[in-house]
Amino acid sequence: MSSVNTSQKKIVTPQLMMAVGTAVIGSLQFGYNTGVINAPQNVSIYCKPISQSTLTGLWSLSVAIFSVGGMCGSFSVSLFVNRFGRKNSMLMANVLAFIAAAFMGLSKLAASFEMLIIGRFIVGVYSGLSTGFVPLYVEEISPTSLRGALGTLHQLGVVIGILMAQVFGIESLMGNASLWPVLLAFTLLPAVLQCVLLPLCPESPRYLLINCNEESRARSILVKLRGTDDVTEDMQEMKEESQQMMREKTVTILELFRSPMYRQPIFVAIMMHLSQQLSGINAVFYYSTGIFERAGVSQPVYATIGAGVVNTAFTVVSLFVVERVGRRPLQLTGLMGMAVSAAFLTVAMALLVSLRWMSYISIVAIFSFVAFFEIGPGPIPWFIVAELFSQGPRPAAIAVAGFSNWTANFLVGMGFPYVEQICGPYVFIIFTVLLLGFFTFTYFKVPETKGLSFDEIAAGFRQSAGQGLPVTLRYTFRMPLFKYPIN
Ligand code: GLC
Repeated sequence: MSSVNTSQKKIVTPQLMMAVGTAVIGSLQFGYNTGVINAPQNVSIYCKPISQSTLTGLWSLSVAIFSVGGMCGSFSVSLFVNRFGRKNSMLMANVLAFIAAAFMGLSKLAASFEMLIIGRFIVGVYSGLSTGFVPLYVEEISPTSLRGALGTLHQLGVVIGILMAQVFGIESLMGNASLWPVLLAFTLLPAVLQCVLLPLCPESPRYLLINCNEESRARSILVKLRGTDDVTEDMQEMKEESQQMMREKTVTILELFRSPMYRQPIFVAIMMHLSQQLSGINAVFYYSTGIFERAGVSQPVYATIGAGVVNTAFTVVSLFVVERVGRRPLQLTGLMGMAVSAAFLTVAMALLVSLRWMSYISIVAIFSFVAFFEIGPGPIPWFIVAELFSQGPRPAAIAVAGFSNWTANFLVGMGFPYVEQICGPYVFIIFTVLLLGFFTFTYFKVPETKGLSFDEIAAGFRQSAGQGLPVTLRYTFRMPLFKYPIN
């Protein structure tokens, strides 16, 4: 088994940055389309007047249909990546962004809400595909010692996309009755940019060697990506994974659940993604303006942008510390910090009627909720799934994890306003309880993957699954490769 020589591999070459930078344009698109729908919520497409409740219903549908598209897209990831390759899959997906931009951009002209809804669905499918393609590609081309930091760039793309949408959506820019179609159709520009840049980027050498058996092409790409002629260690590691894959054969989604070898990592992957969405983060991002309004903030739109800025700043913090501190401590700190912030927010919202200054406490609580999210639960689930699996099961695992993420995203997006009506200022207590549950799960079940090669991580899970010991006994068994018990 190969061990990782960290010092040798910490080279960020221009080729590597170009490839990662181009890929995360897909992440930016996902973020942009998540945030963009806030602004035009109250405008009508039709010339004739329609009731406020119909209008609210139609816009809510255009929010929800995006997540439904995301569910379809994320579930289809594994159909593409092995057949067309990682790079071509990303390139092809842009067709969807073009079609979606046309539908959304022309919906006002055609006075058709149907076109808007169809456009939102298609851009949702595109975003669902991107949330699989981008982390997969980035993790496969990154050196082991930089996998966490470069993997976090996917989330950085998402948060910059959200922030751009919040800023462009200001009423005096494009968030007004006449320019909103341009705001939605803007998604065309990043798609064009990615289509121009992707052909200049390399295919994943891991895909070329392990899936296509093209050793010399894989080697020459690695030489460019790593900026050194000596890529023996990477090649060796991939060959070991390739041999392992021959023994494993291709893994389908069903087999992921059937095989005892994958049961643990897929369970961890799903739980990581559920913890990301059921933390309540999108209750803030979809409904922040309303939450700030009820919390007594006088300029809610600017407070929302403030949340976007905090969101971006703390993703950058995570980017710089993830390789030093590791995944587990950041994930645990993030979940606990969010739980405490949600508790503070609840207290502040409950006391608001009697103490007006509680509105400041609620702003601080929301900002710290968002900051702790980006320390760990935001970026880590997106890239850790690629780390938890070897080449064979990786695409199927990414599809399953992504699908769980989008489904939970849909449930929170749809359910939050109703639950809020019932629970009033106490609604965030639900997230506190869930967050504490996910903290406990992470503490006991999530292994540290920092600095381990894909092969070493997979071997760790294999070893533990192969023990065949009763759960209680297995629990006390600490694998040499993982610092923490994983079963
Ligand atoms: C993550 C989530 C996404 C959320 C975003 C907020 O990428 O997957 O749903 O909107 O973080 O920064």
